[in-house]
Amino acid sequence: MTLKHGRAVVASPGPSIMPDRVLAAMARAMPNIYGDELLETSNSVFADLSMVAGTESNLYMTISNGHGAWSMAVSNTMSPGDKVLALESGIFAVAWGESAVPLGVELEVLHAPAGHATDPTALEARLKADTAHELKAILVAHIDTASSVQNNIVAIRRAIDAAGHPALLMVDCIASLGCVPYEMDEWGVDLTIGASQKGMMTPPGIAFVWAGDRAMAAHETALLRTSHWDWATRVMDGPHYVRFNGTPPVSHIAALREALDILLEEGLANVYHRHEVLAGAVRAAVAAWSSPGGLEFYVADEAARSEAVTTILTNDVDADRLTDICLQQAGLTLGKGIGDFAGRAFRIGHMGHLNPPMILGIIGTVESALTAMHVPIGGSGVAAASAHIASALKAG
Ligand SMILES: Cc1ncc(COP(=O)(O)O)c(C=O)c1O
Repeated sequence: MTLKHGRAVVASPGPSIMPDRVLAAMARAMPNIYGDELLETSNSVFADLSMVAGTESNLYMTISNGHGAWSMAVSNTMSPGDKVLALESGIFAVAWGESAVPLGVELEVLHAPAGHATDPTALEARLKADTAHELKAILVAHIDTASSVQNNIVAIRRAIDAAGHPALLMVDCIASLGCVPYEMDEWGVDLTIGASQKGMMTPPGIAFVWAGDRAMAAHETALLRTSHWDWATRVMDGPHYVRFNGTPPVSHIAALREALDILLEEGLANVYHRHEVLAGAVRAAVAAWSSPGGLEFYVADEAARSEAVTTILTNDVDADRLTDICLQQAGLTLGKGIGDFAGRAFRIGHMGHLNPPMILGIIGTVESALTAMHVPIGGSGVAAASAHIASALKAG
């Protein structure tokens, strides 16, 4: 017997729930790929995406997932034997660095203490010790989707400047773009990676690389450039076909245009406020559920808890049984623990196309599954989340 019926709810941290308008935009017939209409749409998508990322730097799109964008970033800026420093606070910065190793790039990892963001003081000390400036780039995930840690990019930039180190600052904002403010130029980021499938509410398959002046300068001497990823092959003011180094991803361009319209109609300030409130509701629920030996936040440092995803350690509770009950009996997809978190954590994604009834439904369903499993919980997460949302509602 199952209660799974009607529209399935996805609370895994990406691909997130796609608005019907975005899906409908993808279902249109193919346009003339050499025509002005597609070019105009594409131009507006490039401009509005860059506005969301807070940058006037060059934007290159990959017809790929985030891994493809990682590859584009490294191959356009590095040479064999170059060394990168990955700031570990989960799994994604290290995975990015590891993806560069087969290309001949050396990887060093700076670990953050478990449950914490990267420590800027530790970074500054490591960079000061690198007097020969062997480290060519620093890789960091703004929000790490596995751990749910949110790194402070401004503090990281400050640490690099305090050390007087010339390494490029490369930030993966795949899990943060469209969920929390991101200001590439103001924050002094040299290269930013984004992707479609989370806060940008567009199916996976297209990803973004913004290259600032220092990344463009590194490109001039980079020896890892490949014919397909090379920025030099992607002429922005040339024929539209060249912008993508091949046939443009027309359905994804249409979907992104619709997703950006949805974001801009709501207003970015409101989008970020909504994420903050819904994340606060999830955190209120997790705080209420927490109990000794039972559930607890992975991110101990409250300031480093992200607005896009929350990772919940389950200790003695079988996390996979919880996620299976939610999925198979209630139609709710949660994020499972990944990497070191496999089997001992679950994740609630609170990114993108979500509102209070959806988030309260997600929290209520998790609480029902916990109750069915006889997991001792500290208190009602539903009540705590509802009270949190109430504090954000105006009653006239
Ligand atoms: C922060 C972050 N970076 C990179 C990736 C990898 O992206 P993809 O799976 O699209 O290759 C993910 C995927 O979830 C992610 O969350």
